[in-house]
Amino acid sequence: MPQTLPLPGTTDKRLAALVTLLSENATIVISGARIARQIGVSRSMVWQWVELLRKMGVRVKGQRSTGYFLEHVPDIITPNLIRKRLKGNVFGKQIYHFFKTDSTNRVAMDLGYTRAAEGTVVLAEEQTAGRGRSGRMWHSERGAGLYVTLLLRPKLSPAQAPLLTMLAGLSAHAAIRAQAGLTTELKWPNDLMLNGKKIGGILTEMHAEPSQVRFVIVGIGINVNQEKFPADISSVASSLRKESGRTHSRLELLVRLLSQFESDYNRFLREGASFVVQRFLSVSTFAAGRRVRVDSGHESYVGTTAGLSPEGLLLVAKDEGPTVTVIAGDVTEVC
Ligand code: BTN
Repeated sequence: MPQTLPLPGTTDKRLAALVTLLSENATIVISGARIARQIGVSRSMVWQWVELLRKMGVRVKGQRSTGYFLEHVPDIITPNLIRKRLKGNVFGKQIYHFFKTDSTNRVAMDLGYTRAAEGTVVLAEEQTAGRGRSGRMWHSERGAGLYVTLLLRPKLSPAQAPLLTMLAGLSAHAAIRAQAGLTTELKWPNDLMLNGKKIGGILTEMHAEPSQVRFVIVGIGINVNQEKFPADISSVASSLRKESGRTHSRLELLVRLLSQFESDYNRFLREGASFVVQRFLSVSTFAAGRRVRVDSGHESYVGTTAGLSPEGLLLVAKDEGPTVTVIAGDVTEVC
């Protein structure tokens, strides 16, 4: 197994073991002494960690003198729970888990420079400075969404890297459908939509030479169990829970997402851009026939989406002019 680099702020393995122990024995009182023995820390450390978990919103009942138990299994995603489920999967080998970090993309970018292996996964229960597209913030409420970044080292040119954004969107689309039974719309290049509201997004960043990618990080945010959003985004953002009226297991969704992404990624490396472009066109009803406004920074125009180029760029037939390729910019639907 590859070596896990020590990283400040990651969840202590023994703390993760405490969560697992309590989860596997939910509703049963376990004495502080037994917990201490099983995970290899002092009783006072057990008490401190129980307090920490409570601050994180995990409902640990009981007290020092009697022992502790969970009222119900918390939806915390610890690396050991994922590893158990993803044996043999490249994205189950190196997992960095944070209860809180600024941005999993920032952490993964740093890991990329330190030669961390392809397949490294960074995930957080909460982000204080989650990065969105075009310099926007990604709202990352504690324990409510999936905030995960994958580190890749593909043999690709920088121009091909945006295909990984579309690929991750396709994998997320498939994972949400399989796990939650909900069919999201994929809005080129990186939005996952449900009933016209955004429930997920992908932010890909990379370090590259002119002709060769050194590493790419693919950051995926999915709004899973949020009940409400801040006022400034509440009219455009939603969650799987809000749209379906029920909660969803983040762990199960993440496991599906990682294994789906692994098989999609391998197929892309074998078959090339056409695999991503064809799949995207077959899944996204947005890519053709939709009225859109494109703001590319230096110009703004209205037109109709007209498919994708072989490289995965959106084609738009301008109302006033020819069909153009959208290389960058915001694409919004107009009625
Ligand atoms: C978008 O604006 O649509 C992209 C949002 C990407 C958010 C995810 S959450 C996990 C990863 N870490 C970040 O800081 N951003 C991405």
